[in-house]
Amino acid sequence: MELISMIFFSFSSIIIIFFLPSLLKFFASVGRNLPLPPGSLGWPYIGETFQLYSQNPNVFFASKVKRYGSIFKTHILGCPCVMISNPEAAKFVLVTRAHLFKPTFPASKERMLGKQAIFFHQGDYHTKLRKLVLRAFMPESVKNIVSDIESIAKDSLQSWEGRLITTFQEMKTYTFNVALLSIFGKDEVLYREDLKRCYYILEKGYNSMPINLPGTLFHKSMKARKELAQILAKILSTRREMKLDHTDLLASFMGDKGLTDEQIADNIIGVIFAARDTTASVLTWILKYLGENPTVLQAVTEEQEAIIKSKENTSSGGDEKVLSWADSKKMPITSRVIQETLRVASILSFTFREAVKDVEYQGYLIPKGWKVLPLFRNIHHSPEIFPDPEKFDPSRFEVAPKPNTFMPFGNGTHACPGNELAKLEMLVLLHHLTTKYRWSMVGSNSGIQYAPFALPQNGLPIILTKKF
Ligand code: HEM
Ligand SMILES: *[C@@H]1O[C@H](CO)[C@@H](O)[C@H](O)[C@H]1NC(C)=O
Ligand SMILES: *[C@@H]1O[C@H](CO)[C@@H](O)[C@H](O)[C@H]1NC(C)=O
Repeated sequence: MELISMIFFSFSSIIIIFFLPSLLKFFASVGRNLPLPPGSLGWPYIGETFQLYSQNPNVFFASKVKRYGSIFKTHILGCPCVMISNPEAAKFVLVTRAHLFKPTFPASKERMLGKQAIFFHQGDYHTKLRKLVLRAFMPESVKNIVSDIESIAKDSLQSWEGRLITTFQEMKTYTFNVALLSIFGKDEVLYREDLKRCYYILEKGYNSMPINLPGTLFHKSMKARKELAQILAKILSTRREMKLDHTDLLASFMGDKGLTDEQIADNIIGVIFAARDTTASVLTWILKYLGENPTVLQAVTEEQEAIIKSKENTSSGGDEKVLSWADSKKMPITSRVIQETLRVASILSFTFREAVKDVEYQGYLIPKGWKVLPLFRNIHHSPEIFPDPEKFDPSRFEVAPKPNTFMPFGNGTHACPGNELAKLEMLVLLHHLTTKYRWSMVGSNSGIQYAPFALPQNGLPIILTKKF
């Protein structure tokens, strides 16, 4: 008897200690008569993580949308969350009520990039960083590096000629080199190989188990992170001595006296992270879709050949003319191919936010601390917005999409500041690729892998040859 009442007593005190806060919150919300969005939370802790990871994540999201509508709750990796997949809700979370939803990332990403990187912040520090980043990547700035991007594109293509290549791997090298150019200007060639070596070790380790013992991948990547910071410190001190005029991202960061060297380092590693794999996987998808759609490829090739022709009479010397910013604005067909690829492939299927307090949306409660995921891919694949959504059809972008229906670069306070650079480097590469080369895909190309975003199976092996 004694024992049973003791067990009962401790059991009930456990209930009170552990569940009282959530009970109170529950009654508080019920008091306001607000229901949670529809959906199921699955098993405690594990939630619906298995369903999510046991299949193509987009199938999981799409089946939920079908069952519960465009706003539903679920539970992944121990976190209750609300997923949203309509333009109005995305606008609410990302744009008009952005201050109620802070960015949130797994701890491993914070360790890799550094706590001070732009993605993790909200408020004054974020606003200040964003200004500095936008200054370096706005059209007026990227305009100045078109011909340098072009040299990198031509070198890359030349190095692939006549070989069997893994498109994604080679595109990563291209987008890495363009990212370094935009960060350090032409000074980067000096440090390119060291930076590349460290960055590749860093990312490998952070996708492995976080066990910090000598010999583990994780340990090596922590060392690589330190070495990266040392290389950056060297670049910073050289620049401070030379006092030359630069217009790149590093100059923008250094021009603000309020940023510490550590903040600069975290944000430079952050920009490389944001710029490289994203742009490389979009380029990989473009090669796949162009390879599968010969009439679209023909139209792109003709548009790009017309640009070469239009420059034949200009008086500048040399047998090949360089591309200008103005040329990049005369590529409407190629631009629509990029847009349609961004839509169909939707490489960033969704983003993460966290409610900073209880928020009411359309009669539902989104409780404080819950994750909120705008599902870009589902919006981009909604048949009401994009008829026959699985079809690759660049002509659908002849009419501009409605606000918040097409957000490959996000929207609002955290929208991608690198989108102009990303589009420019894709156009420049496609100009030289389509006018001088042909390529054929090798092996079966129907599969998709998730690593962590969607990519053609095996990174799209191709053979590239010169046209004439
Ligand atoms: C096609 C390639 C790219 C795609 C699809 C893409 C997409 C995105 C998206 C969707 C976001 C917003 C994420 C969110 O709201 O949670 C974002 C943020 C960001 N992107 Fe990109 N991006 C690309 C290329 C680049 C490039 C080339 C750079 C740099 C040169 C870059 C730098 C950034 C930065 C710094 C942020 C964080 C902004 C902030 O938190 O305020 N991105 N990107
Ligand atoms: C270039 O010059 C040729 C003759 O010299 C002329 O026929 C052609 O129309 C010119 N093209 C452009 C784009 O000006
Ligand atoms: C972002 O949101 C604003 C306000 O709703 C809208 O005007 C704009 O078109 C949106 N941008 C995109 C890319 O949808």
